[in-house]
Amino acid sequence: MTSISLDSAAPATLDVDAIVIGVSPAEAGATPAAGAEGLDKALDGRLADALRALGATGKAGEVVKLPTLGAVPAPVIVAAGLGERPAAEDLRRAAGAALRTLAGSTRVAVALPAASAGEVEAVALGALLGNYAFDLYRTDGRKGPAEEIRLLAPASETAAVDRARILAASINLVRDLVNTPPSHLSPEDLAGEAERIAGETGLAIEVLDERALVEGGYGGIAGVGQGSANPPRLVRLAYTHPEASKTLALVGKGITFDSGGLSLKPSEAMDWMKSDMGGAGAVLGALEAIAKLGPKVNVVGYLAIAENMPSGTAQRPSDVLRIYGGKTVEVLNTDAEGRLVMADAIVRACEDSPDLLVDVATLTGAQLVALGTRTTGVMANDDGVREKVVAAAVRAGEASWGMPLPAELRKGLDSAVADIANISGERWGGMLVAGVFLKEFVPDGVKWAHLDIAGPSFHKGEPYGYTPKGGTGAATRTLVQIAEDLADGTL
Ligand code: BES
Ligand code: MN
Ligand code: ZN
Repeated sequence: MTSISLDSAAPATLDVDAIVIGVSPAEAGATPAAGAEGLDKALDGRLADALRALGATGKAGEVVKLPTLGAVPAPVIVAAGLGERPAAEDLRRAAGAALRTLAGSTRVAVALPAASAGEVEAVALGALLGNYAFDLYRTDGRKGPAEEIRLLAPASETAAVDRARILAASINLVRDLVNTPPSHLSPEDLAGEAERIAGETGLAIEVLDERALVEGGYGGIAGVGQGSANPPRLVRLAYTHPEASKTLALVGKGITFDSGGLSLKPSEAMDWMKSDMGGAGAVLGALEAIAKLGPKVNVVGYLAIAENMPSGTAQRPSDVLRIYGGKTVEVLNTDAEGRLVMADAIVRACEDSPDLLVDVATLTGAQLVALGTRTTGVMANDDGVREKVVAAAVRAGEASWGMPLPAELRKGLDSAVADIANISGERWGGMLVAGVFLKEFVPDGVKWAHLDIAGPSFHKGEPYGYTPKGGTGAATRTLVQIAEDLADGTL
């Protein structure tokens, strides 16, 4: 575990392995940002010249390393580009990009410009997220993350650092869960992780096993899970605040592996489907963070967990399931399994009479077609709710975009034998079709938003900013922000 603490020492005196500074673009060339003054002095005012000689421009994403050759105790300065007029996300990314280059370090000082609470939190969060590594399964001695981060910022900003520490721990937990191979994260294992977190943070928890799911009438989760040797689970977590006047319900898709079932996926991208529990991960991570942050709101979280496998006991295309609450679904494609487990959990969550219900799911490949790999699609049964959820997500630093739920798409889901089919005869707008399907299970009067995080939850490209390859922890911060917005009346 990496430690992070505030330090008000002068950077030029610090005995650390590296000092991270900011660099901004300027007419004269790259210019060291606030926080680097002491170092510049120790280098006889030659820091800007040295950076320019190394080709630094100050562009966002750039990281340039500079040896100090004995001028200060720290042997290396790591200069991270901030871009023009850096906002919180630029600070997070600069800190993250710098820390990613410092694997194997013991002590790192971060002297990025951070004066306000928001800036301190951004730098701390970016550093802790960029410093993440998933090395549980490595025996090759690859360098691990830095052990100790010293943040050079006003000593009064401890609350900002505490908040960053809490958020980073939960986001990195979600990343670990997503990165864990499905052989080591069965539905039972994921429910066990929820039990561990609940025990550590004082959240109330109930877990329904496969028998309880069948007896309770959870036909969606039971149906999707029946083909796997690893039986399904439904987890309910609850955070309560004595002064809360509102209740938020969160529902996450927890498919620990999505082979497609009998409607088997092609093999090229199947390994990606270990990330199909990213929604449930985000709900669990958010509840962990909420329990530590203590907002004045009640939050219930549901994790709809199953493994989608083909076998002699698997559900078949044309089978009919009965979702919790009684609605029937004709399963025409067993790879559209997420909406089946989500339907059960959404109906159950509405029994808690939430003031707002937010579900999160790696639901459709169509989300990636529509919005690319990094932007979450936000749908809702109320325009105001959708706009406020998008605003909360963006404020929390997660790219999100509002999408419609066109009423005409419902017709394509008509079934010849059941209340609704799980896939549409209509080829286009697959992300919206899935949202329209889920909407059928939200009772009138319940305000609901749906986040499709198929792309954002798992990063296949090269690392950037504070985002590593693999699990990203997407939506965790958004859900925490929504809870806080509901607590303070913003939402
Ligand atoms: N888990 C997938 C969606 C997905 C695809 C997530 C790619 C992340 C990356 C989901 O269960 C699925 O298979 N959806 C199908 C639905 C289709 C059969 C209507 C899809 O999107 O192809
Ligand atoms: Mn699927
Ligand atoms: Zn899936």
